[in-house]
Amino acid sequence: MTLISLKDAAITLGAPLFSNLNLTLHPGNRMGIVAPNGRGKSTFLRALAGQGDLTSGSLTRRRGLITGYLEQDVPDTLARQPLRHAVLSALSPEARESEGWRADIALDDLSIPAELHDRPVGALSGGWQRFAMLARVWVTEPDVLLLDEPTNELDLARIGLLQRWIRALPRETALIVASHDRAFLDDVCTHTLFLRPDHSAVFALPYGPALVALDEADAAQDRQYQNDLRAARQLRRQAAKLKNIGINSGSDLLVMKTKQLNERAARLEDAALPAHQQRSAGAIRLGNSGSHAKALIAVEATAVLAPDGRRLFRAPQLWIGPGERVVLLGANGVGKSRFLDLVIEGLRGAPGPVRAAPSVVAGISDQRLTALPGEVAPHALIAGRFDIGDQPARTLLAGAGIAIALQGKPIRHLSGGQKARLAMLMLRLAKPNFYLLDEPTNHLDIEGQEALETELASHGAAALIVSHDRSFVRTTGTRFWWIRAGALTEVESPEPFFAAALGGEPAR
Ligand SMILES: Nc1ncnc2c1ncn2[C@@H]1O[C@H](COP(=O)(O)OP(=O)(O)OP(=O)(O)O)[C@@H](O)[C@H]1O
Ligand SMILES: [Mg+2]
Repeated sequence: MTLISLKDAAITLGAPLFSNLNLTLHPGNRMGIVAPNGRGKSTFLRALAGQGDLTSGSLTRRRGLITGYLEQDVPDTLARQPLRHAVLSALSPEARESEGWRADIALDDLSIPAELHDRPVGALSGGWQRFAMLARVWVTEPDVLLLDEPTNELDLARIGLLQRWIRALPRETALIVASHDRAFLDDVCTHTLFLRPDHSAVFALPYGPALVALDEADAAQDRQYQNDLRAARQLRRQAAKLKNIGINSGSDLLVMKTKQLNERAARLEDAALPAHQQRSAGAIRLGNSGSHAKALIAVEATAVLAPDGRRLFRAPQLWIGPGERVVLLGANGVGKSRFLDLVIEGLRGAPGPVRAAPSVVAGISDQRLTALPGEVAPHALIAGRFDIGDQPARTLLAGAGIAIALQGKPIRHLSGGQKARLAMLMLRLAKPNFYLLDEPTNHLDIEGQEALETELASHGAAALIVSHDRSFVRTTGTRFWWIRAGALTEVESPEPFFAAALGGEPAR
């Protein structure tokens, strides 16, 4: 039985995202989609969910198929709805009346604590918002789950929970998931699709082994290509020799033979397919304008409260000096974002427990990328906010991976990773000496994550960072503050926190 099948499917948006894609999804298949930023993963999932069209080819769904689609971004319309209500509203009006219990089961399956059920979705931490959206999808009892970067904003404990939840799905439930999280893909997938402009590749393997198979297929393709070109060159050399002899001897036969050889060479050259070349999704660059202040940021001993006045944790006296990159560790919802809010207020000069040295120039990137207005075009944003000319703005944007065709279109057309890259460009143009980064690797592809690590470390930038990405925390962090059991304490290494989080210990 086939749930979804694609025949010669293609989508072109400005540039071809994928083409000639043939794929069948069977019950129980768990398929990861892998591609760099801006290459069409979300566009593909949207088409599978019936919310977008193919440019050509066909997409067939089994009759009555229920697809559950988790979008990459939390829709604004959900922000004000209480969580349980948001889950209920995913049901039909009749089901809502008689089967409201299904919402409670979905909330329970995902271990969403009861005290959050009545809070507005917009007031939840990023990780819980994603789980709220997942509960909304799950309550509809889908045959196919389409998940777009579900681990973004989740802490390690919640990634573990999501992995366990996926493993416990009914066997026949199929899954298609776009992600840049290698460990997660390996854990949940049976199949891997490498989405490419042409010659996408599908393997009935999890990510790691699929990548090995892909490299082998690409290398074989490259050998074949080189062989074909070599054979064509040889034919042309023979043809040239024959032509000379033919001209000297006046033989028509040799002239014809020459023509045939050249034609064969041309056919070989036309048919030869170069191996896929991965294009970078754009460069990420950051700097460090430096400061002579001893302490860039000073925090008084304080109790950190939630917006509704609940006490989240106690923080002792703290400071951050030049070149220090502090990583704030702690479970989702423990108050990391709240602490960052306090620091942001301090950076803006507002009264409170946090003070910034006068020489501090802050570069702030929040989890939601709120500095990027959806309706403004990237070019207008950069040119309007920074004193740079029209052409330099274009060059900078193109370098950051935003093609000329997209520079004049509203930012909402950019992919998640392209938005993150634009936010990084804005940071760099602000020439900061102190970075405040809330989940900066969210949405970035693997190459982008590594570029960001290198940039922060190589410029000796000072930073306060919240990140669930272990590799990023290990390579960029120089100091670690762990919020647990109602208190913030400095620790030597992030490893005990990682171990506690992965083990499913609530670490609260
Ligand atoms: N109206 C448009 N005109 C031209 N290009 C567009 C338009 N809308 C979207 N695009 C481009 O289509 C491409 C596909 O975007 P998509 O969101 O599917 O990428 P993605 O693979 O999910 O990336 P990410 O990893 O960053 O989430 C992007 O380059 C995007 O900027
Ligand atoms: Mg995407």
